[in-house]
Amino acid sequence: MSTNRKRPSKRLQKEIKLRLVITAGPTREYFDTIRFISNPSTGRMGYAIADAAAKAGHRVTLVSGPVELAAPAGVKVIRVETAEEMLKASRRAFAGADAAIFCAAVSDYRPKKRADKKLPKQMMNRRIELAPTPDIAATLGRAKGRRVTIGFALEDHDGRAHAERKLVRKHCDAIILNDPGNVGSDRASAEFLVRGGEWQVWPRSTKPQMARRIIQSLQRLWAARTRVTKAE
Ligand code: C5P
Repeated sequence: MSTNRKRPSKRLQKEIKLRLVITAGPTREYFDTIRFISNPSTGRMGYAIADAAAKAGHRVTLVSGPVELAAPAGVKVIRVETAEEMLKASRRAFAGADAAIFCAAVSDYRPKKRADKKLPKQMMNRRIELAPTPDIAATLGRAKGRRVTIGFALEDHDGRAHAERKLVRKHCDAIILNDPGNVGSDRASAEFLVRGGEWQVWPRSTKPQMARRIIQSLQRLWAARTRVTKAE
């Protein structure tokens, strides 16, 4: 076996079976028992990645915010609502995992206070004080050891520059720069950057096709990390 950084063969890639954590969907950050801050993420990209990973033979734990999607076949789904819950469930799954793909649209802020009853309109403070939520990718990335992690960046301007900073800040091995037009759409276009590499422009494709491409890229990263390269 060679120890150089050649692409692993298709056969070797097929033999790679990983334990994966995938985060997906939005989070909800409540300020009383009913009302919350959230975003319109549908979770479709994360669920498509989980499905593609399971079909490729990987063992997948999908930590999902509230979405309208059914669990993909063969995937263990842990349903959560808040960023704190998502961090807790992801951390537990990550402890026994080889890799993670952070696809969730985690709310950046949460209300500082969560009332234990629905607040009557008259009693609602018209200013909601906010506190930052934990960054799941960055928190788990800091102590990831040899695990491979991939993040997403959704940007509407200076995408590559923002994504490059996120790649480093979140300790990811690679980042997918997502187009805002992909949200809620059947198709997706993206650019992909591996640490120390060059940007690759991925063609517009369906989300399942994009998901398969992401899983193949993850397998390549894993193979490079464990130095499984094509036997010449
Ligand atoms: O900072 P931003 O939200 O743009 O970063 C996007 C990436 O970080 C995605 O991979 C997302 O799932 C992840 N993220 C996270 N926890 C957060 C915010 C983002 O895991 N609180």
